Amino acid sequence: CSTLGIGLAGLGTVGSGVVLALLRNASLIADRTGGIVNLDIAKVLVRDLNKKRPVDIPADKLTTKWQEVIDDPAVDIVVELIGGTSDAFDIVAAALRAKKPVVTGNKALLAERGPELFALSKEFDTPIHFEAAVAGGIPIIKTVQESFVGNRIHSMVGIINGTSNYILERMTTGGLDFETALAEAQQLGYAEADPALDVNGWDAAHKAILLATLAYGFAIDPEKVYVAGIEQVRPIDIEFATQLGYVVKLLAVIREHENGVELRLQPSFIAKSNILANVNGVFNAVAVHGDAAGESLFYGRGAGQDPTASSVVGDLVEAARSLRQPTGHRGFLPYTEKGRLMPVEETETAYY
Ligand code: NDP
Ligand code: HSE
Repeated sequence: CSTLGIGLAGLGTVGSGVVLALLRNASLIADRTGGIVNLDIAKVLVRDLNKKRPVDIPADKLTTKWQEVIDDPAVDIVVELIGGTSDAFDIVAAALRAKKPVVTGNKALLAERGPELFALSKEFDTPIHFEAAVAGGIPIIKTVQESFVGNRIHSMVGIINGTSNYILERMTTGGLDFETALAEAQQLGYAEADPALDVNGWDAAHKAILLATLAYGFAIDPEKVYVAGIEQVRPIDIEFATQLGYVVKLLAVIREHENGVELRLQPSFIAKSNILANVNGVFNAVAVHGDAAGESLFYGRGAGQDPTASSVVGDLVEAARSLRQPTGHRGFLPYTEKGRLMPVEETETAYY
């Protein structure tokens, strides 16, 4: 089956991760999709052509002009991973107008300018996939959009910014000051290009806006959301929390009430016995309460190169499948991979 070309806008932490994941798992993806999805990087947008990168991209595939990505006839799907709400908006809008499906991890873009972009998506009958935009490698978008579609969602409460969670933990157990902990999070590739968004709560607020929009179906004006970030947390707050049996976490609360939806982001005291108190470092967790399912907890790595690339590649495969097979079988294709079940005597004793 012929390949589908990816136009990759952005080759930073996440963009490089996507290239590496595709290199690692291309044949696995082809097998799992019955051979219909073969992906190739056709064009890559960067700002600096001369920057040293962890992945090798042939020079003729690199460009600094985003129009060349959209207009390239070899590009079938556009992946936007440059961040921000200005150039990213132009790229996504142009891709939709060209009827090229979009995959993005850009929560700021969708929370701030989602109504314009989803209107274009509808007008040009071309999807925007955005699993990577919320909670890194946790498949929370598909969960809310698809698995919970038959539930009335009462609430979603969770930790959805890896950088602030990492900083809070390093300040609590590592005894680090705020600046050193933030520098570590940047070094590890968790923080936004503008880390102010992580520490002032707005990155998490953008994600919460997306979750609430999926669950309740109306456009949310970011200006009306209550947002307080961890920049307000002082060592003394953490000390008091510890003495009283609590931990401090940046909590997103989305809750349906009779007269509307509550949406707030704030550093909160969480009892040590609460499962969310044990979500540490870069990990995120979202407790979704649906009327049918009751409460389910989704937990995993909320930021960083590989987990985020995992979500992007999942969306890429979904977009590619839809292009290749607009109708037809979408379920699991069993019995295509080779493997062996280990005899029980070869396995470890059950310690976990
Ligand atoms: P980086 O800053 O590491 O990478 C951004 C990339 O985009 C760089 O390759 C940069 O080029 C390129 N770029 C930026 N602006 C432009 C522009 N105007 N024109 C051309 N190229 C441009 O960001 P991340 O990879 O960390 O994040 C990308 C997106 O993914 C963001 O929207 C972020 O919110 C989101 N995201 C990030 C996660 C993470 O853990 N890092 C997790 C989930 C989502 P150059 O390399 O030449 O400078
Ligand atoms: N800066 C974000 C975070 C990246 O730390 O959670 C994942 O969206």
